Amino acid sequence: MNRIFVYLLAFATSLLTSQLGASSFEKDWHTYSNYQQIVTTHISLDLAIDFDKKQLIGSIEHQIEYLDKNTKKLVLDTRDLDIHKVETFDGKNWQKTNFVLAKRDPVRGSQLTISLPSATAKVKIYYNSRPEASGLQWLKPIQTAGKKLPFMFSQSQAIHARSWLPIQDTPAMRVSYSADIQTSTSLRPIMSAKNDPEWKKDGRYHFEMPQAIPTYLIAIAAGNIHYQAMSKQTAIYAEPEILKASAKEFEDTQAMIDATEKLYGKYRWTDYDLLILPPSFPFGGMENPRLSFITPTVIAGDKSLVSLIAHELAHSWSGNLVTNATWRDLWLNEGFTSYVENRIMEEVYGKKRAIMEQALAVQDLKKELVELPKADTILHVDIEGRDPDDAFSGVPYTKGQLFLMYLEKRFGRENFDQFLRKYFDQHAFQSIDTANFIDYLKVNLINKFPGKVSMEQVSEWINQPLLPSDAPSPRSNAFDKVKQNMDAWLRDDLKLVKMPTGEWTVHEWLYFINNLPESINLKRLNQLDQQFQLTQSTNNEIAHAWLLLNIKKNNPVINQRLENYMVAIGRRKLIVPLYKELLKENSKREFTKMIYKKARPGYHPLAQGTIDALFKKTK
Ligand code: BES
Ligand code: ZN
Repeated sequence: MNRIFVYLLAFATSLLTSQLGASSFEKDWHTYSNYQQIVTTHISLDLAIDFDKKQLIGSIEHQIEYLDKNTKKLVLDTRDLDIHKVETFDGKNWQKTNFVLAKRDPVRGSQLTISLPSATAKVKIYYNSRPEASGLQWLKPIQTAGKKLPFMFSQSQAIHARSWLPIQDTPAMRVSYSADIQTSTSLRPIMSAKNDPEWKKDGRYHFEMPQAIPTYLIAIAAGNIHYQAMSKQTAIYAEPEILKASAKEFEDTQAMIDATEKLYGKYRWTDYDLLILPPSFPFGGMENPRLSFITPTVIAGDKSLVSLIAHELAHSWSGNLVTNATWRDLWLNEGFTSYVENRIMEEVYGKKRAIMEQALAVQDLKKELVELPKADTILHVDIEGRDPDDAFSGVPYTKGQLFLMYLEKRFGRENFDQFLRKYFDQHAFQSIDTANFIDYLKVNLINKFPGKVSMEQVSEWINQPLLPSDAPSPRSNAFDKVKQNMDAWLRDDLKLVKMPTGEWTVHEWLYFINNLPESINLKRLNQLDQQFQLTQSTNNEIAHAWLLLNIKKNNPVINQRLENYMVAIGRRKLIVPLYKELLKENSKREFTKMIYKKARPGYHPLAQGTIDALFKKTK
């Protein structure tokens, strides 16, 4: 009897919260779609991948549901798409319908307005993407590991899905999807869906994603993609040349899943596979459901950079399960994910490493906070009128993480873990905005344990720039020792050969390089290089930190390595700070131009856009 009552109550509240959730969001400025009147619930794709034309060509079918019964049009987001024909289905017949494609807005793209005859249940659009699609990269064979076959992949977050799919491109709503994909028989396509490694390579593939996801998580790639299982739930997809090394580097992925389940509840997406992309992938990773997309630049040979995997996996809870309703709320995705990532690292690799990673992130954030426009250091940032990519920074990540670390400290780990677990559970497969979160936090944590944190303090974290004065400040003993050694060397009290660098991990090296005094002279830099071969480091993070420092110090010794690095890697986080530093000095402009001329054709449209803008800004 009691049980039934509890079930009924749970059912009623879930109905209530899901309805409240759907109707009480702030409007997403970055979509033109009329998602408050009518929503797509399922998408069926029928697409051919044409590498010669650099186009996806075919059709998309929307199954729609009316929130407002009087709605007579479906408004979708598009960018740089050619729309050939639109048809509607009323349950019996397909018929052609009218559509209008509006002028292109530089941020939001072109609004596509489709007329709906009465009783329309489905809408089918015949279209193709264009070669310049901002969400796709088309790679020549030479840009791949194997050098023989082409490769393509999508990157839809934040608002690039619309450059290859005419859709309601907002994280406020969710769709399931299925897809029929055609490609050359020498290539394998793969999607953020159920992937079957046994599929015959016959050029025709069918994908199903039965779980509802926001559109920015729809993803596709195709290339000479092979498969290697790592554990019952995890596998690598990659070009054969890097398959083995990837599987070795990321073999702890299952342990990461197990650790996260213990902390925050079940992994709800069946399998968790990694697709290792060519080095031009503009991000470290992208949390496409069931199949994270991963840069090869983290394959260091010693698992030193696998926090990236912990991060993308963590999105299976924060982001993919509970989704930011608008791009202003990105911190709900990335801040929570950075926090969960670090908790996973602590579980799997221990506290020492987790604290070092916190300390490095906070140092990076503090440097960034000085340079960013003040308004962009607010968690609930105002990005109206801007592409979310242009407001991208460490703030939603590390300030968001620090806020959760602060709550953890104030309320105690046990209470905070319970809170988070329930938060994921109660918002599973829903979107949430910052105001919804504040309400939830107030009821389920702040008021439940009175006297620990005030709503004013919460508001300071979320609505004020920079960091509150009582923000956590992670301190690593390991780094303190590195600093002591560094200081002793700089005082000439310790020889480099005597420094205990044999025991240092990549993290200690990064701390060392990042904290050398600005006044250090070239003689000392070159001493370090001779002793430790830093310019030639095969760890891409160490190489990045070292190159950045040497650009600042005008050390020409690194120039050739710098050029090779910039041409080989397209990951924005690793290359953009280097271009920025180079372009501060007018005397380095020609050199920088020379490098960029060689490197640019290999970069993703997103990276090209960012660096083009840097050149323009410094003109
Ligand atoms: N989802 C992000 C990438 C992203 C964010 C793309 C916003 C577009 C807009 C991904 O999970 C991410 O954060 N990647 C980081 C990883 C790092 C923080 C461990 C990256 O690419 O560097
Ligand atoms: Zn992320």
